[in-house]
Amino acid sequence: MNYTLDKILINGEKIQQRIREMGAQITRDYAGKQPIAVCTLRGAIPFYADLIRVMDLPVTVDTITVSSYGSGTTSGNLKIITDMRSDVKGRDVIIVDDIVDTGRTSLAMVNMLKERGARSVTICALLDKPSRRVVDIEGDYVGFTIPDEFVVGYGLDWDEKYRNLPHVYTLKSCE
Ligand code: PRP
Repeated sequence: MNYTLDKILINGEKIQQRIREMGAQITRDYAGKQPIAVCTLRGAIPFYADLIRVMDLPVTVDTITVSSYGSGTTSGNLKIITDMRSDVKGRDVIIVDDIVDTGRTSLAMVNMLKERGARSVTICALLDKPSRRVVDIEGDYVGFTIPDEFVVGYGLDWDEKYRNLPHVYTLKSCE
């Protein structure tokens, strides 16, 4: 099946406005702290870059590349492809991701970071698809709750395309 862009689901301006609100909320919640914000590569790249610039905090920047598999209920279901550089022991960690879908990645990441001794772990996701959830996890900071539609753009891909678009789009079949 081949797909092409259908329509804009979330306009880039609206994304930026919401990110400013999320950054302000995180700034309030972490006042006096030095959290580690970890970008889950690759989908979170644009969101992460915009978010950390509206966090008025001495934030530690880091990245991780993971893939989850199986039930995803323990950190044992997380394959770490490239790890973080920071020692998270005793630190407050914010996981930044583009989307919480089944929730497996987020849950396994939270478990892994807690096992490594993080003092606190929160999830900050631009998009949330609660109708797809298979494990019990919620984002602490969520930009937009969306229906169960395939979306691309602003970091999200289909077949490694569309990640660089400034808006979030739905896809349609073009056969
Ligand atoms: C996507 C997305 C999340 C995860 C969400 O990553 O960036 O990390 O899937 O799915 P889940 O809630 O069902 O676990 P993906 O593995 O596609 O890699 P990418 O970021 O490189 O696109």
